Amino acid sequence: MIKVREAAIEDLPVIIVLMKKNSEPLNEDLAVFFTAKNPNEEYKLFVAEKNGKIIGFSRVHFYRWNKSAYAINLLVDSKYRRKGIGTLLLKTMEGFAKEKGARVLMFDTAIDNIPALNLYFKNGFKICGYNNKLYDDKTALYLAKEL
Ligand SMILES: CC(C)(COP(=O)(O)OP(=O)(O)OC[C@H]1O[C@@H](n2cnc3c(N)ncnc32)[C@H](O)[C@@H]1OP(=O)(O)O)[C@@H](O)C(=O)NCCC(=O)NCCS
Repeated sequence: MIKVREAAIEDLPVIIVLMKKNSEPLNEDLAVFFTAKNPNEEYKLFVAEKNGKIIGFSRVHFYRWNKSAYAINLLVDSKYRRKGIGTLLLKTMEGFAKEKGARVLMFDTAIDNIPALNLYFKNGFKICGYNNKLYDDKTALYLAKEL
């Protein structure tokens, strides 16, 4: 049984292991997103669990200045992919964005990340731009869904 819930700071060591195992870049101090108080932004991290084991993770930011939400991380352990868990995490981020009154939920991903692009297209996201300076090696596509 898969459950998605808000992550707690105590989940961080497991989230970090999951990211390393799946070769996700880990350049930020994720603890900040549990402790920082920024009146202009709100951060939310979610985990997907199967029988209590964390197998997926997502992070979304809400920005007050333009009432938008930005999904920063979305990761499902390679062993558990293609079972709808990415969709569940995406829908949870969307729920949070709507709850905050965001107009739009956005995302960026590499132009050749077919699993991610298909997931977003299937969930109503559309390409709204590109940036060939965002990553050091590949072009990034921006995707957005009006809420
Ligand atoms: C992208 C990712 C989160 C998808 O997670 P997931 O749990 O496998 O996704 P779902 O099972 O909910 O898939 C939903 C849809 O996405 C598309 N999709 C997912 N994986 C795909 C793949 N390998 N190839 C093609 N389409 C794929 C399909 O349309 C799928 O629907 P279907 O299974 O009915 O055909 C996962 O592949 C992942 O963690 N990748 C590495 C990290 C990453 O790239 N994150 C996103 C950008 S930051």
